[in-house]
Amino acid sequence: MIGAVRGLLLRGFELIERPFDRLFGPALNPTAQLGALGFFFFWIVAVSGVYLFIFFDTGIESAYESVEHITNAFWFHAGVMRSLHRYASDLMVVMVVVHLLREFAYDHYRGTRWFSWLTGLPIIWLLYTSGITGYWLVWDKLAYYVAITTSELLDYLPIFGEPIARNFISTGTLTSRFFTLMVFMHVAVPLFLLFIMWVHILRISRPKVNPPRMLAALSLIALVAVSMWKPALSQGHVDLAKAPVEIGLDWFYLPLYPLTYLWGKGAVWAFLAAFSIMVGLMPWLPPLRRAKPAAVDLAHCNGCARCTDDCPYEAIRMVRRSDGLPFPAEASVNPALCVSCGICVGACPSSTPFRRTQDLKTGIDLPEYSLAELRERTIAAAQALIGPARILVFACQHGGAAAYPGGVPLPCVAMAPPSLIDYVLSRKLADGVVVAGCAERACFNRLGIAWTEQRFARRRDPYLRTRVPRDRITTVWTSILEFSRFKQELGRFAAKVAALSPAKAISSPPPQVRQNAPDTAAHREPYPIEDRSVPP
Ligand code: HEM
Ligand code: SF4
Ligand code: SF4
Repeated sequence: MIGAVRGLLLRGFELIERPFDRLFGPALNPTAQLGALGFFFFWIVAVSGVYLFIFFDTGIESAYESVEHITNAFWFHAGVMRSLHRYASDLMVVMVVVHLLREFAYDHYRGTRWFSWLTGLPIIWLLYTSGITGYWLVWDKLAYYVAITTSELLDYLPIFGEPIARNFISTGTLTSRFFTLMVFMHVAVPLFLLFIMWVHILRISRPKVNPPRMLAALSLIALVAVSMWKPALSQGHVDLAKAPVEIGLDWFYLPLYPLTYLWGKGAVWAFLAAFSIMVGLMPWLPPLRRAKPAAVDLAHCNGCARCTDDCPYEAIRMVRRSDGLPFPAEASVNPALCVSCGICVGACPSSTPFRRTQDLKTGIDLPEYSLAELRERTIAAAQALIGPARILVFACQHGGAAAYPGGVPLPCVAMAPPSLIDYVLSRKLADGVVVAGCAERACFNRLGIAWTEQRFARRRDPYLRTRVPRDRITTVWTSILEFSRFKQELGRFAAKVAALSPAKAISSPPPQVRQNAPDTAAHREPYPIEDRSVPP
């Protein structure tokens, strides 16, 4: 059931993201930058909030007038800031909702990722508390409606000795102490929110917390333009003698408020509790079957720290050497953080298939899918290739080539060290190599595509050696739903490679795998992790 919903959502995201990719390019695609945009909007809200605070009068008697003054007399600076504050806060809600759905759709919330997911939950609560207390401060009719409804909702819970809604019954009983509490909360809660946002990304290596400059500039220009065109306005001074009749709601922050009167307070609380419990339990519904974590073999580790640098999940630390070998440090894997992506295996300088030892060993390896097994599968898959251009496909199991029958399966493209490609081509095991991973905007292991490209471009260790003919290698980045696009790209590359070989083929059919190929190791499941991909 959850898998079906995820599949449906993934298709929805693909429908939006592919045109965005064409429009912005994968690097600027906003759907791939949601977390970073969330931070960016937060900073806009924070800076505009501090600016507004200079002009805001925190007393209940004069709060409304001070906001009116900001909006009318100082419209060209403080007024624009007010609108920026409002609209950037709204965009934070949009960002959180889309980000949550996207992480779910791409299955980025189970296994070791439970931590980012679970810390997202208090973010939602804190964001809403910040927004709701903000509406209160304007002290207009909407603020009054928010104040009454929030107090009634809170009164439903057995927390306060005396009903707080009584504060708003008439001007006489209203305490400005309560208003001051709201002002304090509107400053303190966002600060706490920022702290939780920091905790949220603690377990992620190189998190994207700043959007690309162009995207940031475009977002800011759009926000300023909307602020000038449709400034945020108040809705008339509070009259405590009258209940607010007609008010404009902010549907980003207040969608549950009308429901309080429609469903009743108990139902709203039940909904919020059910939502929180469901989101909180999701990483374990069903739990991800985790493969054994990467293991270090000290006899082959020289303490270079490349694996630590490349691990996307902060799962490896360099610690003091424990085996007496003359290196200052050794790699140490935290099994609780490792997702067995194999990226560290591809980074280690000892991961070279050219090693003559019978039993291929490396500094760090996956117990359930070792480098030795990867080499064995590569050879077996190459032996099964036929046709004018024998193209070997290294296929990430999260990308468009996952279902390709003759491919060498990988948990991430960056598990294959560049020397493995050198090995295939220099030993003439194949005429060309395709490294096929996820869509560029949505690398399942976050950094696998980036590291692969940098290694091939000789900008990141381990480099692809210069002797490797570049025209015989290509990369194809397609999502798990784009098998046909992968096959098209493969066909195009095969034709190009066929034209390179001495026996030139005029038109080349797509590369084939021998029909009666033996059940080689290449056709087995690489590692037993269930429920990884969405069924086509
Ligand atoms: C203000 C709100 C939020 C901000 C600013 C934010 C920001 C971020 C950032 C910057 C990342 C790292 C992205 C990367 O570099 O790959 C991230 C990852 C993540 N976020 Fe959020 N987030 C927010 C809310 C949420 C919420 C509400 C949830 C879900 C309940 C959530 C779930 C996740 C998950 C599961 C990841 C890990 C993705 C991975 O491991 O690939 N986030 N978030
Ligand atoms: S397998 Fe992946 S997650 Fe585990 S230590 Fe290596 S790079 Fe990090
Ligand atoms: S990359 Fe290999 S050699 Fe370098 S620290 Fe990691 S395990 Fe050791």
